[in-house]
Order: sequence, then C-alpha cells, then structure tokens
Amino acid sequence: MRKILLVLAMIAAAWGVAYPKDIDRKWWKEAVVYQLYPRSFKDSNGDGVGDLRGIIQKLDYIKSLGVDVVWLNPIYESPNDDNGYDVSDYRAIMKDFGTMRDFDELVKGLHARRIKLVMDIVVNHSSDEHEWFKQARSSRTSPYRDYYYWWPAEKGTPPARWSLFDPKHDAWMYDAPTDSYYLHIFSRKQPDLNWSNPKLRQEVYSIMRFWADKGADGFRLDAFQFVAKDPKFPPLAEGLEPSLMGYSMGAGIHDYLKEMNREVFSKYDVMSVAEGAGRNFQDAHDLVDADRQELNMAYAFEGVDVARYGGYKLSTMKEVFSRWDREFADRGWLSIFLANHDKARMVSLWGNDKPEFRAYSSKLLSTFILTMRGTPYYYNGDELGMTNAGFGRIEDFRDKPLLYIYEYEKNSGGDLGKFLERAKFEARDNARTPFQWTAGAQAGFTTGNPWIKIAPNYREINAAKEEKDPNSPLNYFRRLTRLRRDNLVLVYGKYKLLDPPNEAVYAYTRELDGKKMLVLLNFSDQPATAATGVDFAKAKIALGNYAAPSKDGKLRPYEAVVYDLQK
Ligand code: NOJ
Repeated sequence: MRKILLVLAMIAAAWGVAYPKDIDRKWWKEAVVYQLYPRSFKDSNGDGVGDLRGIIQKLDYIKSLGVDVVWLNPIYESPNDDNGYDVSDYRAIMKDFGTMRDFDELVKGLHARRIKLVMDIVVNHSSDEHEWFKQARSSRTSPYRDYYYWWPAEKGTPPARWSLFDPKHDAWMYDAPTDSYYLHIFSRKQPDLNWSNPKLRQEVYSIMRFWADKGADGFRLDAFQFVAKDPKFPPLAEGLEPSLMGYSMGAGIHDYLKEMNREVFSKYDVMSVAEGAGRNFQDAHDLVDADRQELNMAYAFEGVDVARYGGYKLSTMKEVFSRWDREFADRGWLSIFLANHDKARMVSLWGNDKPEFRAYSSKLLSTFILTMRGTPYYYNGDELGMTNAGFGRIEDFRDKPLLYIYEYEKNSGGDLGKFLERAKFEARDNARTPFQWTAGAQAGFTTGNPWIKIAPNYREINAAKEEKDPNSPLNYFRRLTRLRRDNLVLVYGKYKLLDPPNEAVYAYTRELDGKKMLVLLNFSDQPATAATGVDFAKAKIALGNYAAPSKDGKLRPYEAVVYDLQK
C-alpha cells in the first residue's frame, strides 16, 4: 500500500500536482459528516422504529452520497426518556435498534465502504435506570453514591439550579429513599454524573475505549460543556438568566478533556468534537487548539441559532459565520452546520419550503454547508429537502422533553396556543420524522406503524423520486460532496466575505495556493446580484442549483452558483 502511495505521489509531482505544504492536513478536516438519526432512518423489522439492520440495508445509499463519516445519535440501551440521550447501559445496544452483532456488521459495512463512524457519548448524565444510579440512590453509603450529585435534605433546600427539561425548570429532584435531592440539568430521568469523581471519569474512558476497540472512529461528546460543576453548589452570580449557560464551562473541564485525550483520543486515530464550544472564542480555542491536546473541533451554536421563529436577517448570518471563520483562520478548527436533530428542518428554518422554492432553497443551503471552511455536518433527510412536519396538536409530538415543557407552560398559566404555534415551527420532532424513502405506504420507512407520524408531503419528497431526477436536491448534494472532495480549496482555503450588507445575496471567495472559487447564494425569492468586483467573463461554472446556472452573477430566486475563478 505504501509503495502504491509513493508511486502516486511521484506521478503527481511529475505532473506538477503539488499539495500545499503549509497546511495541517487531517482526515477529519477533509471529511463530510453525515448525521444519522437511527430511530427514524430505516426500520428493518416492522416495529415502527428505525434500527441498525435498517441502516445496514441502506449502506450503499449512504456511500452514494459521497460522505466520509457517519455520526450516529445514541444507540445504547435506554428507557428513551430523551430518545437515547438517557443511557441505562453504555456497553449494550438499545433493544429497539438491534444487537451487538448488528453493530459489528454495521461497522464492518461502513469500513468496507471507507466510511468512518462517530459515536455519540452521553456522559454529562446517565439514565436514572442505569445500574450506577439505582445503586447510588439506594443508600448514602453506596460505593456509587459519588457518581452523582446529591444534596442532603437536612441542609435545607438546595441552591437554585435551572433545568432545561424539568416540568418545573428545577434541576433538583427530591428522592425519598435517602432523603436527598439529586441534580438533573436535563430531565428528571437524566441525573447528572459527578465528574469530580476520578472513578467515574475512569469508567467513562473505559467505555470510550470499549467502542474505539470495536471500531468507532470518533466521538461526539453530548452536552459536555456542562460536566464540570462545583460540588459545593454555591449560589449563582446574581443577574444570570435562568439558563444552562449560567453554569457551563465550570472549572476543571479542561483537565478532564486533557485526561480524556491521554486516556482515549491519543491511543487511537479518532476524531473528537464536543457539543457546544463554550461561552466565547477564548473558551472555544481552549477546547480545540492543537497545542491544547483536548478536542479536534468546535461545534459552536452561535451560527445555527441565528435562524429563529419569526425569521432572521441574512446580514446577521454572514456576520456570525464570518466572525467565527476569522477567529479560527489560523488556529483551531470548526464544524459547519445548519441543522441537527435538535432543530427544525433546515429548509423550513433557513430556506423557503413553499413548493416552488423548496428544492432550490434546500440546494442553496447545502451549497453553503459544503463550501465553507470547517468540517460540514449534514443532517440526514436534508439531502432530499425534507421539511418540517408541521404538527399542530400536542398528541402528535413524541419528544418527551417538549411534553415536559408543555406541562410547565400549562401549570404556570402560559399561552398554550402560542406554545403549539411555535412548536409547529421549531420543535425538534420536525427533524425526527421518518426518512422519506418512497411514495409508498409509510414512505417506505416501515411496514408497521411508525413511532412518529410521517411528514404529509412524502409523496412529493422522497428518495426514490429524487434518484430519477438529475436536478433533485439528492443528486445535487452528491455533486457537492464530489466538488468538495476534488477541491481542497473548499476545505482549507481562505474565506473572504464580499458585499457584507447585501440582504439578498451571500457572496464569498475561497482561495488556496493560486486557486480561487467564488460562491454566490441568493437567499431571497427575488432576482438579485451582489457587488463582487468579479469579471464573470473569466469565471468558469463549477456547480449551480439551476439546470442552467447563471453565467454572469445575475441570480434567480434562491440560485446558488460556485465559480472557478481563472487567474
Ligand atoms: C443534546 C442532545 O443533542 C439533545 O438531543 C439532548 O436532549 C440533550 N443533549 C441532553 O442529552
């Protein structure tokens, strides 16, 4: 193999194809990550829930996308209070999803196709049904007591801590058997693990090594910015909004990551990314700069959070993404994404899901993700332009944390109509409806009853139909991954924003070693142009989302064009 590589390198050198020498090339920088939500991808046994064998059936489809890494949302044993983000056994596969043999076959199938696997590690909290917690809550002297945070009731009410998913937004839950409160910053069934306990930390590293030994190529650390807490729970600084950020990035977090790096990451060729990137750039750099020996890349939310219920301004999006790019131009590495399993569907949130614009705007958003600097994280179903499901009744929602907050609203006299109106647009369930494979029964996802309703538009939007259309979002996405693979400039090249105040067109160039590309994205439903100063006579079209892309920079609604700028 090494010989072949050497020969290839010699041939490349002879032809004058040189790779830039001064960039720090890494596979995880050049990879396109495909985020796969197992519960909703493909059901192989008719129980209405997606599973590992379903993914195995679709491996060739995944390969055909041209992605390099699959990030799987949690697949461990879980009572599913939060769809797997409440783990009751970190070394077992969730029964709904299959068996360990299925997992081994899946890894083999991915690797045979040269696709890597990133596992989701959920260790800010476990499930309350985990053996550790069962032991811990049974007695104050249990050896597992210190795996969690407790506040003995004789000390009075614990200092206020805010919970995201609790029906009272109270992070402390009274537990009668030991007359104490336990901490849960997510749901009551997700007690927080005590990271100040070295024994707990070693358990986690050993779990991670278990999966790396089984073939995992990377880890996404769920909610990791919240792991470090002061076990004394001092009162929070006054004026802090009731939010999790008030106690994120606690002292000790960097020591834990350095330790994890020594104990796990340094022993394998794995990629590492934590959910969230701290409170500011300094935090983000401290998490990911190469000399820190902590994580590989930041997964920061400021960008994705620009799009909200009620809309967003394009100039704000540009400002935020450009600021993050600038900050990471020389040090550290970013993730680029516009969607995931916690957000509304990309095209509904960022684009325009009206029938006449849906495909164009979805292809435009894909163009953005695949032509920015940073590792693209692309959410399954977005390659089809899948939209929000638009559930209007509370009975249709399956996301338990959403139902907990609904309960909070109900008990605190909130406006439930407004709540539902917002949920219809931005609830996480929008991104979790089954993958639309065909126009047939249950969109080809299952032969049974799906665990959550299929989005009503599956007859118009489905993979089978898009396979046949060369201009479909699906086939366009395949061209995009190829374009990125063939143009290192799109991975490492310098990014420059053009015409920043333009509220219709997002325009930028990418440049590396004499190669320059221009990306024009019309985010509006009207014709538009941008002041780029580019001589289009010399520009070559590399890709466009209309059958005949604009040759002169005059863009139609939601038109996206990538140009090769000849020098
Ligand atoms: C972030 C995950 O992405 C989300 O789905 C989950 O509910 C919380 N962390 C809690 O684990």
